[in-house]
Amino acid sequence: MASVTRAVFGELPSGGGTVEKFQLQSDLLRVHIISWGCTITALEVKDRQGRASDVVLGFAELEGYLQKQPYFGAVIGRVANRIAKGTFKVDGKEYHLAINKEPNSLHGGVRGFDKVLWTPRVLSNGVQFSRVSPDGEEGYPGELKVWVTYTLDGGELVVNYRAQASQATPVNLTNHSYFNLAGQGSPNIYDHEVTIEADTYLPVDETLIPIGEVALVQGTAFDLRKPVELGKHLQDFQLNGFDHNFCLKGSKEKHFCARVHHAASGRVLDVYTTQPGVQFYTGNFLDGTLKGKNGAVYPKHSGFCLETQNWPDAVNQPHFPPVLLRPGEEYDHTTWFKFSVA
Ligand code: BGC
Repeated sequence: MASVTRAVFGELPSGGGTVEKFQLQSDLLRVHIISWGCTITALEVKDRQGRASDVVLGFAELEGYLQKQPYFGAVIGRVANRIAKGTFKVDGKEYHLAINKEPNSLHGGVRGFDKVLWTPRVLSNGVQFSRVSPDGEEGYPGELKVWVTYTLDGGELVVNYRAQASQATPVNLTNHSYFNLAGQGSPNIYDHEVTIEADTYLPVDETLIPIGEVALVQGTAFDLRKPVELGKHLQDFQLNGFDHNFCLKGSKEKHFCARVHHAASGRVLDVYTTQPGVQFYTGNFLDGTLKGKNGAVYPKHSGFCLETQNWPDAVNQPHFPPVLLRPGEEYDHTTWFKFSVA
């Protein structure tokens, strides 16, 4: 059983509207989600001793989310991740998006789904947010109706994404939470053990666009099929961190994606999804300059993201899983974040 309560979180400047906060609570989890960007602002999880800590990076107040910041907790769309040079073709017609991460388009553009107010609807065990992305928004073709639903089931936070298009358009929706299972504000994630269920990954160029090859992880730093301790692993392979798409095994049905275990607290996060990929990002661009919750500052590697999604730049790479949604079809994907202790 879950309970749901709602409250005002803040007012947008210049009469932009009221941002609300929804609290979803079960015996095992307490989650705060706001209607600005469908953003998860807090996620309290118990450790082995039953002590709860907030395990996601973020801000105490709305102002934090309105400043330039790296998508903490937000839903990303219309297309998560990078589109090379912000350019693609649909049915022969070329489209140009804003270049907001030189020389590419990142996470939906200048004003993506993370930077808009959504319409909430309270459910018995969660909250559903909806909005209509207008034709031409951020340069994307056609109107897109979108529903993002968060529900709580014991130790599991379930996120469902649905969309319908009026014209063929690429769609790729994800959640961009940064986790630290030691508790947000802990200096790094080096003592986290990570497993990702992927035999292959996508090597990238210097602008982080996949070069097109689907490479085997075997014998590389990307082989995370057995648990690795992150700090030691990065050191062993002299890596600056991960910011890569792992190609998941499994079909469009629910399949296992990743497991992260924090031995000191006992907290475990298991991720399942219907998506074909996951961007594993270790907060390489965090630099300690943001003022987070409870005085936290978030240095490099102080949080990790498991962004379940289609493969980056799929709209330009025909051998990647299809990313176009056509009129009459329904986009429907789900990701499960399951917390436990071990
Ligand atoms: C990307 C990173 C980016 C981060 C925040 C991740 O999804 O893969 O390259 O820096 O989001 O912007």
